[in-house]
Amino acid sequence: MKVGILGTGDVGRALGRGFVTLGHEVRLGARSANHEKALEWVGEMGERASQGAFAEAAAFGDLVVFATLGVANPDVVKAIGPETVAGKVVIDATNPLDFSKGFPPDLAIKGNDSGGETLQRLIPEAKVIKAFNIVGNALMFRPELPGGPPDMYIAGNDADAKAKVAALLNEFGWPTVVDFGGIAASRWLEAMCIAWVIIGAATGNWRQAFKMLKG
Ligand SMILES: NC(=O)c1ccc[n+]([C@@H]2O[C@H](COP(=O)([O-])OP(=O)(O)OC[C@H]3O[C@@H](n4cnc5c(N)ncnc54)[C@H](OP(=O)(O)O)[C@@H]3O)[C@@H](O)[C@H]2O)c1
Repeated sequence: MKVGILGTGDVGRALGRGFVTLGHEVRLGARSANHEKALEWVGEMGERASQGAFAEAAAFGDLVVFATLGVANPDVVKAIGPETVAGKVVIDATNPLDFSKGFPPDLAIKGNDSGGETLQRLIPEAKVIKAFNIVGNALMFRPELPGGPPDMYIAGNDADAKAKVAALLNEFGWPTVVDFGGIAASRWLEAMCIAWVIIGAATGNWRQAFKMLKG
């Protein structure tokens, strides 16, 4: 499969590494082509990896991943053009974090809205699936923890797209994928990111992920 990843930060490069390791072709997109981090990543990943501007990565991918600064997603969509992702499955790994009042961050979009819903409105013909946003980048691919594999929680409006993303998550090392419902459930998944940050800061351990214990 061809995967376009938007974002050259820790998340974009970690997810890109996962897709390349699984045998997919990945184009990493940055604010402009030949971004230093993108070039370095391509050098590490080899022949299945390439790089370009956001629009080139979005056009390349049959599957597109948003791994961008959450509050900048409207600008990123302007850069790619919404039509570039029409009909495609789009994984939204972002959180609309607001650091203006210090730590822990707040959500810039919350209450009756969320970053996931905002992105779906910006690209109405894409099938946006929220995933990966509730865990640190170091554990996104093949998470290994003493308590066994953690759970991944996802949300999105399109059932087929969710099934495809759930299958991909299984390949990424997440055997338990729980469907939270439509994209509006991003409200709860994005809040879980803040909970993840608070727990990490309180315990000093960032190698952590969620799992629901059942009786
Ligand atoms: N870090 C984690 O472990 C983690 C875990 C779960 C979810 N997330 C979420 O995943 C997303 C990516 O995280 P990250 O840590 O990889 O972020 P990051 O290092 O901040 O990278 C974000 C990407 O967004 C781009 N960007 C920044 N400001 C922009 C703007 N104004 N317009 C367009 N593009 C802009 C950056 O480009 P430049 O390089 O050119 O600045 C970079 O490609 C965030 O939404 C974050 O909340 C992060």
